[in-house]
Amino acid sequence: MERKEDILILAVESSCDETAAAVVRNGREMLSNVISSQIALHTIYGGVVPEIASRKHIEKINQVIEEALVKAGVELEDITAIAVTYGPGLVGALLVGVSAAKSISFATGKPLIGVHHIEGHISANFIENKELEPPFVCLVVSGGHTHLVVVRDYGVYEILGCTRDDAAGEAFDKVARAIGLGYPGGPKIDKLSKEGNPQAISFPRAKVDGAAYDFSFSGLKSAVLNYLNSCEMKGIEINKADVAASFQKAVIDVLVEHALLAVQEYGFQKFAIAGGVASNSSLRAAFEAECAKKNIAFYYPSPILCTDNAAMIGTAGYYEYIKGVRSGYDLNAVPNLRLGER
Ligand code: KG4
Ligand code: ZN
Repeated sequence: MERKEDILILAVESSCDETAAAVVRNGREMLSNVISSQIALHTIYGGVVPEIASRKHIEKINQVIEEALVKAGVELEDITAIAVTYGPGLVGALLVGVSAAKSISFATGKPLIGVHHIEGHISANFIENKELEPPFVCLVVSGGHTHLVVVRDYGVYEILGCTRDDAAGEAFDKVARAIGLGYPGGPKIDKLSKEGNPQAISFPRAKVDGAAYDFSFSGLKSAVLNYLNSCEMKGIEINKADVAASFQKAVIDVLVEHALLAVQEYGFQKFAIAGGVASNSSLRAAFEAECAKKNIAFYYPSPILCTDNAAMIGTAGYYEYIKGVRSGYDLNAVPNLRLGER
């Protein structure tokens, strides 16, 4: 039952290959979270095809928004404001969500709030962890992003570091493809690694000179490819599970080391992870163990809130809304929008 003072955000997300809509009450209560995934469609191409993604978003968007309202048990008129991801992401994909949200805002006269996709990922942590409040350090690891961020306050971020080349998820996807696991590779490497030995092959843990919080994964990816090539040349049979486990361990070691250095440096004793790769079971276990040792409270979203979804956009949108942030009907898709920019 909605009370008059409740703030209901209808959120829309279409930045990559998920068409998603959600209704979020008072920032932290998810009333619905509808995700129409296109993964099966892109799998045959080995990755996301932007034009196909845009077309599929157009086909699905109205239906997904409708479903989010029905599942939440609310009518459009009950909604307080509409939040939408406007960047970063694929421009054609973003445009579908932005256009839908603008149309609803125009037709109903309800306020519109453009939300940064990474801000959404970070905010996913607020939905299930009701006690979590800034400041804290957050590691965002997804298919397109690897960011180490200080969340100073709601919507106030300080970027400590990011990847210089491949994102963590991208490295998972590329290595998975090289060992024949298919797309998306992250969950498949996660699963196969459980049968492998993470110490079997020594892969590099890259550091970026003079930038303790930056990441670089392209060297690791090349090391895996070189290892596979040299095995092939020597006629040595590859143990895929060992390759997966050793690669995954190399990624996790670097993520844990850099992130916990930041937590120690800033002294908040609170740390969160977000993004698709944050659902990796070994990554969670590694952070859980290290944080327990160092007495750091560790937060992470359920897998369904790690992957692209609109509930996280609704939560981020709520905090922007109560700060008074509003977007105009000239809101546009910004494919390379930086975190903290408007
Ligand atoms: O956040 P997300 O759904 O989309 C982006 O904003 O990029 O992240 C997708 C990425 C993909 O690269 C996928 O392989 C990776 O997250 N991923 C995983 C796992 N589940 C998804 N990586 C490692 N382990 C997983 N369990
Ligand atoms: Zn994402």
